[in-house]
Amino acid sequence: MTTSNPCAGQDPQRIGVAADHGGFELKQYLEARLRETGYQVNDFGDHRSHSDDDYPDYVIPLARAVARGDVERGVAVCGSGVGACIAANKVPGVRACLIHETFSARQGVEDDDLNVICLGGRVVGQETAWELVRIFLSARFSGAERHRRRLAKVAALEPAGAKAVS
Ligand code: RB5
Repeated sequence: MTTSNPCAGQDPQRIGVAADHGGFELKQYLEARLRETGYQVNDFGDHRSHSDDDYPDYVIPLARAVARGDVERGVAVCGSGVGACIAANKVPGVRACLIHETFSARQGVEDDDLNVICLGGRVVGQETAWELVRIFLSARFSGAERHRRRLAKVAALEPAGAKAVS
């Protein structure tokens, strides 16, 4: 891809996924679509669906992997996507959001450097979710000064050393 954007970087290739029982089926579907599209997928669990699992047990390891750069982007799914989003954003360097429409899937990355998309497995259908993930993965942070300035104000709330923007 040619671009005049110096912040565009390489296409993300290493994608992490995580879900509790509320998002398990959608995670499995998205993981299969990601793999068949050529992405390297790291599945942080749950690896089987059982009704008493807890989304932080899977979403937090995913979020930490995103923050470390072990995976370049994350896809976190629970029943509504809300718990996954709340949990992921506790990890410094993670910018997660619940996304159920295409405008924010793109603009969340371009303006806010979104690095974890959160989805509700009981809210969106599989094809809509896959479209949202594809848009999220194809979008790039613009690197515009005004967006960096705003993100720096958010990152200032995080402990020293946390990654501010990509
Ligand atoms: C689990 O039943 C459900 O609460 C969880 O998947 C999620 O929707 C939380 O936000």
